[in-house]
Amino acid sequence: MTGSYHEVFERSISDPEGFWGEAAEAVHWYKKWDKVLDDSNKPFYRWFVGAECNTCYNALDLHVENGRGDQPALIYDSPVTDTIKTFTYAELRDEVAKFAGVLAAHGVGKGDRVVIYMPMVPQAAVAMLACARLGAVHSVVFGGFAANELAVRIDDARPKAIVSASCGIEPGRIVAYKPLLDEAIDLATHKPDHCVILQRPMEQASMIDGRDVDWKEAMDTAEPHDCVPVKATDPLYILYTSGTTGQPKGVVRDNGGHIVALKWTMKNIYGVEPGEVYWAASDVGWVVGHSYIVYAPLFNGNTSVLFEGKPVGTPDAGVFWRVISQHKVSTMFTAPTAFRAIKKDDPEGELMHKYDLSDFRTLFLAGERSDPDTLEWAEKQLGVPVIDHWWQTETGWAICANCIGIEPLTVKHGSPTVPVPGWDVRVVDEGCNEVKAGDIGALVVRLPLPPGTFPTLWNADERFVEAYLEEFPGYYKTADAGYIDEDGYVYVMSRTDDIINVAGHRLSTGAMEEVLAAHPDVAECAVIGVHDAMKGQLPVGFLVLKSGVDRDDADIVREAVQMVREQIGPVAAFKTATVVNRLPKTRSGKVLRGTMRSIADSEEYKAPATIDDPAILGEIEDALRGIGYAQ
Ligand code: COA
Ligand code: AMP
Repeated sequence: MTGSYHEVFERSISDPEGFWGEAAEAVHWYKKWDKVLDDSNKPFYRWFVGAECNTCYNALDLHVENGRGDQPALIYDSPVTDTIKTFTYAELRDEVAKFAGVLAAHGVGKGDRVVIYMPMVPQAAVAMLACARLGAVHSVVFGGFAANELAVRIDDARPKAIVSASCGIEPGRIVAYKPLLDEAIDLATHKPDHCVILQRPMEQASMIDGRDVDWKEAMDTAEPHDCVPVKATDPLYILYTSGTTGQPKGVVRDNGGHIVALKWTMKNIYGVEPGEVYWAASDVGWVVGHSYIVYAPLFNGNTSVLFEGKPVGTPDAGVFWRVISQHKVSTMFTAPTAFRAIKKDDPEGELMHKYDLSDFRTLFLAGERSDPDTLEWAEKQLGVPVIDHWWQTETGWAICANCIGIEPLTVKHGSPTVPVPGWDVRVVDEGCNEVKAGDIGALVVRLPLPPGTFPTLWNADERFVEAYLEEFPGYYKTADAGYIDEDGYVYVMSRTDDIINVAGHRLSTGAMEEVLAAHPDVAECAVIGVHDAMKGQLPVGFLVLKSGVDRDDADIVREAVQMVREQIGPVAAFKTATVVNRLPKTRSGKVLRGTMRSIADSEEYKAPATIDDPAILGEIEDALRGIGYAQ
């Protein structure tokens, strides 16, 4: 698979079976495939049909057997607990085998689901890999979600067991996870048989007899469990992501295609060789954490850093440079918002110069649009290539990137460069006709999607087709809008749905509206994502009260903010709302959220011709001024 980017890309599109079949030779299989790509049931495509493998074996055992047993596999670096702990490949394999034994002893087997609700501790990765070892399907839920969100996921995934911890640590406070877990299980209709709880020294969780199992005690007596062969097409995990309603979408990842694709990306996209240290500063609750803290670096024999801290305040804006220097990180991946936070605290990058960063080669950014200011600042301070790349929870790995392991291309700020091999990206208009270079339209990908993406949504084939495949027949709808320039560079401009991106976290304004609409005094509401210099976007709510409500607006706003925090979680960062008399709508009753967003961001806007009453826009502008926007 050598050659120029264009040669490699062309081959991946014209001969996907040959291309991915060749990449699959780097993977360990118990049984090879009957067919690389099965397209007999379109639009459901399956990769490596007939093959058998084990994800955990490819991540750990294979490397131990091939002589990497003493190499660090995982470095846990936690400035919030002042801990650094290294696990070699042999040690991590042994921990994982023992925890697989714990799960098996509590009834978990192939195909069973296990929900993992944990902070950024190595046990989170151990639990994920232990599920993979057994052929069980994990579903990790981000710790910043509230009990209600966890309950929704428990009811959809119907786990046999849940793995959690007594607490997480946020700067300035300890977040007790166990009461949230107990509340979620109370709220859920489905009940797990067991919960395995990691007691952390900062907070002792109370345990429920017969249901709850202490992590440490169970590990002390556990029998290690071997890898269980699974079909390449069996599910490895479900990762819930925001949809347009309060019901999140369960993105399914399979085993075989996922190993093949992720292993391929380490060399070809990231330019990383086995043995090197790779750090994705994200959270295991997000797709970046799944793909690039846990799976891909281990498939490739790298050392992965698992960081429990923030880019600033733990203890300062120099912590990223300390980690890079101390662990000799060659390649880092994070969200632009983290760099905006660092830039704000240390604009001249003075803390950076305290550290030896000579091993550091490349910085990758994703999760939201990289604003050119932040990108240039990072390039100037670090003196290494800073590469923006575009992907989604659904895709599992990058759709567009500058594939430095194949051939580094000229960087154009504002563009995540070009489609990665395997991704036939097009821009189409509403009628599904391709538009010309430079014209904005819907960014879509011609089917089939490459391996390692998502064959369907958990228990929701119809929703999968309806949400992603129906609007543009023959294509996957990314729900991002953008354009491709004359040189083939892709520009990702905005979402076409109600998803917003807050500090690199993907959230649905529709889900927040569902919560607000349940307030007893609220007749109708709207939530929009307004521009924020640090977090990229922040949600702002508009509340129209029921007639006759005669309470202080400030009290209602306070309650509304609290409801979103309690029902979705602190991660929604929903802190601002305002009461208005009415919402701007079209004559057919559609709320003009786009126009409201333009007003909030002080952008020029034109009231749509279909607006019911243009005078409302003045009221919205006044309301926004009252809360510090539309200045
Ligand atoms: N468990 C419990 N609560 C959590 C949490 C977790 N795992 N993660 C975040 N929260 C809480 C925070 O404590 C905060 O609560 P608060 O409202 O009481 O302050 C709220 O959720 C928002 O958190 P966050 O979005 O992290 O904002 P922040 O102001 O604490 O930090 C950044 C801002 C930019 C430093 C931080 O968001 C960041 O590092 N972002 C990078 C995101 C990322 O890695 N994304 C993955 C894609 S690559
Ligand atoms: P998530 O599923 O949380 O990874 O969020 C995916 C969404 O984040 C995409 O659909 C985009 O809207 C946005 N996104 C991710 N990476 C980029 C990028 N490099 N440039 C622009 N937007 C991005």
